[in-house]
Amino acid sequence: MTIPVYRPYPFRDAVDPALVRGLKRLRVRFETRLHPRTEAMVVLLQTKVTADLLPTLPRLRVIANVAVGYDNVDVPACTTRGILLTNTPDVLTDATADIAWALLLAAARRVTEGDRFVRAGKFKRWEWTLMRGVDVHGKTLGIVGAGRIGQAVARRARGFSMRILYTARARKPGFERETDARRVDLKGLLRESDFVSIHVPLSPETRHLVGAKELALMKRTAVLVNTARGPIVDEAALARVLRSGRLFAAGLDVYEKEPEVHAGLLGLENVALLPHVGSATDETRRRMYETALRNLVAVLEGRRPPNPVNAQVLVDGPPRRR
Ligand code: NAP
Ligand code: GLV
Repeated sequence: MTIPVYRPYPFRDAVDPALVRGLKRLRVRFETRLHPRTEAMVVLLQTKVTADLLPTLPRLRVIANVAVGYDNVDVPACTTRGILLTNTPDVLTDATADIAWALLLAAARRVTEGDRFVRAGKFKRWEWTLMRGVDVHGKTLGIVGAGRIGQAVARRARGFSMRILYTARARKPGFERETDARRVDLKGLLRESDFVSIHVPLSPETRHLVGAKELALMKRTAVLVNTARGPIVDEAALARVLRSGRLFAAGLDVYEKEPEVHAGLLGLENVALLPHVGSATDETRRRMYETALRNLVAVLEGRRPPNPVNAQVLVDGPPRRR
């Protein structure tokens, strides 16, 4: 049985040693190598699994994506070929919610700008007008996509006595009871919120969900945070409103053409930028690869995996060896 680690291009940085240790443990039970007769793949989110790739792997049965978002994989193409895709939900929810809050606070209180200011030797004296930000406590937080991470971000807002608005395709009564959140449409959320945090998955419906028209609805004093996927926000439009002062600030962990960052954003002080590190803690990354491997091994052993994405492939049981 082969479990190749598919790498479409050479890794520039070191592969996570924890992931390598996990794979080595797996080798005790399975042979692990790259082979055209690949039956299983472990992929990280920068790996694009396209419809073109799949016919080159005729025996492929399972793809374990080590991420909760799976916009890097052509899911309909996998389903058509009977290939099961799995992901890693839940285990990274809290770490990602924490990073959304880190960006929210950094953008509101000009933390990254202040850090640059001090390092540049510009802090000469305390000044009444120096780096005024906006209050966070008592304000309105709008959650675009109140799923696992969106709800975790909202829960943290209770410590800041914030009012919560949210969008989702269906009402979330439990979440509303827990946080007093109110479901509104996207326009209403953008108009009323002081902080907007994006948590929808990237899909054809959510690509450029927040563009120039939507940004124009936001308050001038508002802050936009995106830890979901870059293409959900029109980056060029965002750079324009931030530059003009039409929007107070933004905090971004993800980018439209990752790892490229729009040149218009790089020169701005009122945007806090992180290199897609939402789930990047030692503990969370360990739980992510363990979850991915648990999914993969389940399929190879003929069991139902815990986190199927295209579960319709499982109608006749886990995909069998071809
Ligand atoms: P989730 O639980 O599936 O939540 C997604 C939410 O978005 C659901 O509430 C869903 O609504 C809602 N939604 C989907 N399409 C929508 C649409 N067209 N309009 C409005 N709402 C829509 O996923 P999650 O675990 O919270 O993860 C969310 C995303 O975060 C992932 O897909 C990934 O892209 C991103 N992420 C980023 C990082 C990072 O490192 N920065 C880490 C982890 C995840 P329904 O409930 O009605 O279906
Ligand atoms: C990270 O971006 C993920 O989707 O897990």
